[in-house]
Amino acid sequence: MQINTNDFNYVPSFKTKMTEPIHSGNLAAKKRLELLDDANYNLFKIDSNDVTIDFLTDSGTGAMSQEQWSAMFLGDEAYAGASSFKKFEKSFQDIMGMKYILPVHQGRASERTLFFGLQKLGVLKQDSIIASNAFFDTTLGWASQFARCENLYCDDFDLGNATKKDFKGDLQLSRLEKLVNQNPNKVNLVLLTLTNNTGGGQPVSMKNIKELSNYCKIKNILFFMDACRFAENAYFIKVRELEYKNKTIKEIVKEMFSYFDGATFSAKKDAKVNIGGSVLFSKDHEDIFLACRPFVIQNEGLFTYGGMAGRDMEAVAQGINETTEFSYLQNRIGQIEFLHKALFTIGIPLIHPCGGHAVYIDAKEYLSQIPETEFRADMLVALIYAIGGIRCVSIGNVMYAEKDSKGNILKPAKNDFVRLAVPRNVYSLEHIFYVINVFEKLHKVHSLLKRGLKIGPGFRNDHFDHFDCNFELLDTKNFETSVLRGK
Ligand SMILES: Cc1ncc(COP(=O)(O)O)c(C=O)c1O
Repeated sequence: MQINTNDFNYVPSFKTKMTEPIHSGNLAAKKRLELLDDANYNLFKIDSNDVTIDFLTDSGTGAMSQEQWSAMFLGDEAYAGASSFKKFEKSFQDIMGMKYILPVHQGRASERTLFFGLQKLGVLKQDSIIASNAFFDTTLGWASQFARCENLYCDDFDLGNATKKDFKGDLQLSRLEKLVNQNPNKVNLVLLTLTNNTGGGQPVSMKNIKELSNYCKIKNILFFMDACRFAENAYFIKVRELEYKNKTIKEIVKEMFSYFDGATFSAKKDAKVNIGGSVLFSKDHEDIFLACRPFVIQNEGLFTYGGMAGRDMEAVAQGINETTEFSYLQNRIGQIEFLHKALFTIGIPLIHPCGGHAVYIDAKEYLSQIPETEFRADMLVALIYAIGGIRCVSIGNVMYAEKDSKGNILKPAKNDFVRLAVPRNVYSLEHIFYVINVFEKLHKVHSLLKRGLKIGPGFRNDHFDHFDCNFELLDTKNFETSVLRGK
């Protein structure tokens, strides 16, 4: 592949001072086939020492800055009223403009806290509906215990993966209006995911945030943000929404949050830390904050540490300051855009345009020779690992399809994606070149695959099967031949 150095007309915002070894660079493809078999073709069950490039997730896997590491030495580990909590709280108040802050250990704890609080206040009732552009897996796991959940997406997203539109993460207002009209007083919460992880990491426009916010106010519907990747979303607003071109990321972030009643937040993404989270409430929602607080005490710890060490809160406070700098985001998203462009050039069907934290492959199209009920994306995940030791994840049928009690697909999910999630500030361009190389090999053999996978014993049929289910290969010989030809 030809490299165009003009793709990199900026200086990366950091250099590397400490390294971590990669142990499995020379692992033979035959050995990887054995490891895959031992792990029942589920990459969550592979040891990280057997992974060459880990694109499983961008959550909690980033490299912290020297400022974050040094802030950790200042951690105040007091049970109550720690100074580290004050810094943590102030950073959310300063950067996001939210007033009331509850600490929690990660995103799913934030979601659980909010839903319990809203139930206690009587906002979420038995027949309530929560609408979203799309819920992520653990969010859906919690939300669906409290209400009916509706993924509404938008018209641009439904135009198809190849169509380039700037804000395919939007939630179509007309779809929300229709849902509300058909279910009067039942839609009690809109949870907007920025960027939309289930839908290709696609961003949400400020225009959409504003119109949804206005509508929710009129209809008395609470409007919350799943803020995991708020900074990456702000970057896309700056570079794609003309009127924000001259605003700083911090200004855009402040404006984004000003339209919401509150937010759930996993600090493992856009705070660039390995653990942490929060629930945020605007100045108008002390009532929800107070209703949620006992659930933090019960499940996470006192409301001035919420399951985090004082040093973790220091790292979060510093992290959200850094990830809301344009130079950091330019480098981060620039690296992913480069990978996206390279895979597209090879001929791999992707979601367009490139999302914020990951490149998404359309496995439905790429392995169309395999029946749709045979978990194409998971088959592709296994092939990518077997050929090059790259670990990634499927987002599609195994997470979201309707299945019977044995795991047979009854109704396929809307999409079947393979997500290559790039950790923050971890891999160099040489690592990315290695990945591109592996995909060049893979592209020569992917069409040799004839069959996919089926789910084996131990299936529960819940929202979390994809983390530990067992797959079985439907044609072992053909898979091994494809891998050994591709290596
Ligand atoms: C959009 C979104 N929401 C919520 C979560 C849950 O966060 P956590 O993994 O910290 O529990 C994730 C995690 O990947 C996510 O991507």
